[in-house]
Amino acid sequence: MHWDAIDQVADASWKLSNEPQALSGSRSLANDASRVTHDAGPPAGQIIRQRRSAVSFDGRTAISSAVFFRMLQRVMPRAERPQLERPMPWDLWPHAPAIHLMIFVHRVEGLTPGLYVLVRDRAKLSLVQQSLNPELVWTQPPGCPEDLPLYWLLEGDAKRAAAQVSCHQEIAADSAFSLGMLAEFEGRLRQAGAWFYPRLFWEAGLLGQVLYLEAEAAGVRGTGIGCFFDDPVHEMLGVQGLSFQSLYHFTIGGPVEDRRMMTLPPYHHLHR
Ligand SMILES: Cc1cc2nc3c(=O)[nH]c(=O)nc-3n(C[C@H](O)[C@H](O)[C@H](O)COP(=O)(O)O)c2cc1C
Repeated sequence: MHWDAIDQVADASWKLSNEPQALSGSRSLANDASRVTHDAGPPAGQIIRQRRSAVSFDGRTAISSAVFFRMLQRVMPRAERPQLERPMPWDLWPHAPAIHLMIFVHRVEGLTPGLYVLVRDRAKLSLVQQSLNPELVWTQPPGCPEDLPLYWLLEGDAKRAAAQVSCHQEIAADSAFSLGMLAEFEGRLRQAGAWFYPRLFWEAGLLGQVLYLEAEAAGVRGTGIGCFFDDPVHEMLGVQGLSFQSLYHFTIGGPVEDRRMMTLPPYHHLHR
């Protein structure tokens, strides 16, 4: 199937000039040492190799709020710091974060099920608030770390709604939580130019990679959801005009293995 619109968008968003040098400063060794974390747990290589997308979730497994908050901490780029002092992998991303998370909490111990928003750059809080339905009440959830700009917007069982906006896929409802990645849209494109459009997807991809690994490290599993309905997502939050655009969904929870599928060790084909 050929989609003309995709070629038109690719042409229109082609980058014609070099970006101004975005990197500044060098990373000092002292800084590096302070950036290393010593969490007990399996080594990164193992997590990277064992990562798989869950094909189904059990509809039961809950995660603790501590695990939930830690996953969200890991997607915070700490945009207030110079780029090279941001936590990995955000130190490689030479742009201010553009993507915020709209989270459907289903099974997180200690948190009321409902709709939450993580603002990935605290400086953007009022921009995000002004771009959404003004009647939403923004409350910090109980136990939420001070440095995590997570807000509870709506209470209630969001399982049906989450599945509906994710192309009716049960994986968005049977997990512990699922989310939509909401990108700052018209403002950023007007400011930077059309070439920034693909960069929004790159940032979404980076977020997806972090979430896949964090899920695996926490003993649960994630799945990227590329099939979703963006307009109903925008309506749910009352997104004003083209200010925000939903770009990608993701879900994390207790996986159910499909035993009909064969799983070979990672890079099996290289070891024959
Ligand atoms: C961008 C992206 C979008 C995806 N969209 C969906 C989706 O809508 N529904 C789904 O069940 N899986 C989705 N997946 C998961 C893929 O089915 C899965 O990544 C693929 O089968 C490869 O499996 P692996 O991640 O275990 O290597 C998506 C994955 C990515 C990276």
